[in-house]
Amino acid sequence: MVLIAPSILSADFSKLREDVIALEQAGADMIHLDVMDGHYVPNLTFGPQICKAVRNCTKLPLDVHLMVTNPDEMIAWFADAGADYITVHAETCKHLDKTLQAIHARGLKAGVALNPSTSEQVLEYVSDKLDLVLVMTVNPGFGGQSFMSEQLQKINRIREMRETRRFQIEVDGGINMQTGAECVAAGADILVAGTAVFAGGNYKSNIKALR
Ligand code: DX5
Ligand code: ZN
Repeated sequence: MVLIAPSILSADFSKLREDVIALEQAGADMIHLDVMDGHYVPNLTFGPQICKAVRNCTKLPLDVHLMVTNPDEMIAWFADAGADYITVHAETCKHLDKTLQAIHARGLKAGVALNPSTSEQVLEYVSDKLDLVLVMTVNPGFGGQSFMSEQLQKINRIREMRETRRFQIEVDGGINMQTGAECVAAGADILVAGTAVFAGGNYKSNIKALR
């Protein structure tokens, strides 16, 4: 069964607690936290303090997506703030293998995110250390962008690479009922969605529709 990871980037931060509780009650499988530093991506969101606050509102796994230039420094911060998954962008790690080991050393699941322009080949020699591969289906930075359908073939190739491995494949950006179905057909296990989950305010029916 496909898992749904709502992104709180689309939440109302003046009532974050209510939104997180509502997402859990609506059937979300995990909560996706988009951490942006204003350097790696042209947007600035939040840090470990908000992650800790979300941790205090839900038992769901917290899926932290680091869109920052210095993810290595932040692993400990988000581990202490209650993250379950930490996903780093391959493009931001000087020593990706070492970064994945550092995430595992904190007892967390380790993910690698790939920008639309990044080849899945960067995963080849770290594939045995991956719990998650996050395929960006938009350029990272903002919610509400349009799905890039050429990424479907990347998802397919990653699924082929996975045959003897056990990592999950997650997609992020422009996911709605239609593009989500295409991603699942190509091999995705987890759909991240901001706009599509929060649109209209009925999280339960939106999550059900996506699934
Ligand atoms: C984009 C973020 C996404 C974003 C998705 O950089 O990584 O998680 O919140 O938003 P939608 O679903 O609106 O495209
Ligand atoms: Zn994300």
